[in-house]
Amino acid sequence: MAQPWWKSSVAYQIYPRSFCDSNGDGVGDLPGITSKLDYLRTLGIDVVWLSPIYQSPNDDGGYDISDYRAIAPEYGSMADFDQMLAQMHQRGIRLMMDLMVNHTSDEHPWFTEACKSKDNPYRNYYIWRAPAADGGPPNNWEAAFSGSAWEFHAPTGEYYLHMFSKKQPELYWENALVRAEVHALMRFWLDKGVDGFRMDVINMVSKTYAADGSLPNAPVVRPGFLQPAFTLVTNGPRLVEYLQEMRREVLDHYDTITVGEAPCATLRQGVEITHPETGALGMLFQFEHMDLDSVPGHGEGKWALQKLQLGDLKTSLSRWQDGLAGRGWNSLYLSNHDQPRPVSRFGDDGVHRVASAKMLATLLHGMQGTPYVYQGEELGMTNKPYASVDDCYDLESRNMFRTATQERGIDPEVALQAIRTKGRDNARTPMQWNASAHAGFTTGTPWQPVNPNYPAVHSEAALADADSVFHYYRALIALRKAHSVLVDGRYKLLLAEHPEIYAYLRALGKKRWLVVCNFYGGTPVLDVPYRAAQRVIGNYPETGVGLQNMVLRPYEAAIFRLE
Ligand code: NOJ
Repeated sequence: MAQPWWKSSVAYQIYPRSFCDSNGDGVGDLPGITSKLDYLRTLGIDVVWLSPIYQSPNDDGGYDISDYRAIAPEYGSMADFDQMLAQMHQRGIRLMMDLMVNHTSDEHPWFTEACKSKDNPYRNYYIWRAPAADGGPPNNWEAAFSGSAWEFHAPTGEYYLHMFSKKQPELYWENALVRAEVHALMRFWLDKGVDGFRMDVINMVSKTYAADGSLPNAPVVRPGFLQPAFTLVTNGPRLVEYLQEMRREVLDHYDTITVGEAPCATLRQGVEITHPETGALGMLFQFEHMDLDSVPGHGEGKWALQKLQLGDLKTSLSRWQDGLAGRGWNSLYLSNHDQPRPVSRFGDDGVHRVASAKMLATLLHGMQGTPYVYQGEELGMTNKPYASVDDCYDLESRNMFRTATQERGIDPEVALQAIRTKGRDNARTPMQWNASAHAGFTTGTPWQPVNPNYPAVHSEAALADADSVFHYYRALIALRKAHSVLVDGRYKLLLAEHPEIYAYLRALGKKRWLVVCNFYGGTPVLDVPYRAAQRVIGNYPETGVGLQNMVLRPYEAAIFRLE
């Protein structure tokens, strides 16, 4: 059987609100995206993953949908969408839509109907429970965006479940009607010609109910406070059944790219869900490597910062590389709209910004899987310099700051530092196109300010500079297209214990390629028993002294074809 096209593809994520504004209202839009397709073509990507553009009250950046079949007016019209899709296809770029079907907006007609009465036909589209004996929420769960995961609906006297904001009620997937609605809306977009879906928190659709239908309390990790409950709402007993059903009902009838966002996913689930014959989806976005710089099991979750250990990163990425080889397929990512900028998080966004951005790109694009580039990553865009909590536009950060400082007694400076390090606005400042006002993102006032470093970091400068991060990404993407060893080659970690160097082999038939990354700003000596036939790419000028005892420069990265 021929290999699916998406295995040799590179995807690019667009967060539409911050990509390109064509009409000066300060919000990115679909015509803005269309106007930048040649830029994406130059970069060489094959697929766009478009974050939500559907009608939404926009409580959570559009991840709260009130109409799955309508475009949010601030992004344009359905005609703009059709035009964008046609223009993408004309350039050989496919489109992957964001599918949010674990929850809707509370302004979706299903939910407004459900609120009308306990016997409304839509009531059972959502998860309702009677109050606890004291009138409080049915259990001790905390939502991802702080506060109880339950919201009381006074007119009908019950609580509804929302694992994110209270404007994002969870759909009740045990109800076959809900699943049929999901299948129908997927067909709607596929019939329009879209090429697949990124599925938001898809492993949360099956929850683990007790025999009596209740949802049990989460174990207490933070006495006296609400409890993180993510492990209880992910990977429920019917997840694979639901995904198989979706595959049978919808996906098998189209040629699609699919990637399921899967917090708390284990390698075993990765194999089960992405197995080429028996799985249901093409790929997962697993989170293991995104969690390594937070204290494991801590009540403050992702905000409990710890320094990343390179050894942990090697162990985690290698486990997924080895574990899915021949039995599934990896998505490769270091960033998206929920994560800080990789060059600030894992590299050096000061003097070594360019070198370290290229090093991180080499590390990722050298691996087996489908790489995802998040808008601005290809420019080495950096984290946002938050001066205070007033710089937060994202409700997750704002809510966390409020609960942490007002309810949990956390020092405001500590909470702000956590936001600077992990806040989602880091990735959501507008795209930096040129050195004109607001980085050329808008002629109006941007919905959130651009990063003040835009006069130095923008795409116009990057396109004009052959040594830019942009051209390095372009070269890496082209390399993957030209050499199947980068797509199909087996991965083998080298120098597992080395404290500064991340190195690995890729092997396919007789071909062996070596990927070397100096993860820090020191000058470690590389010692591997190989001879290079050729350096195929690198982020420093080539020295020509070969591999033996090669002194690596700060954040140096290179890929070698071995003899
Ligand atoms: C994951 C999305 O990526 C994130 O942006 C969103 O807030 C949550 N799911 C809830 O939809």
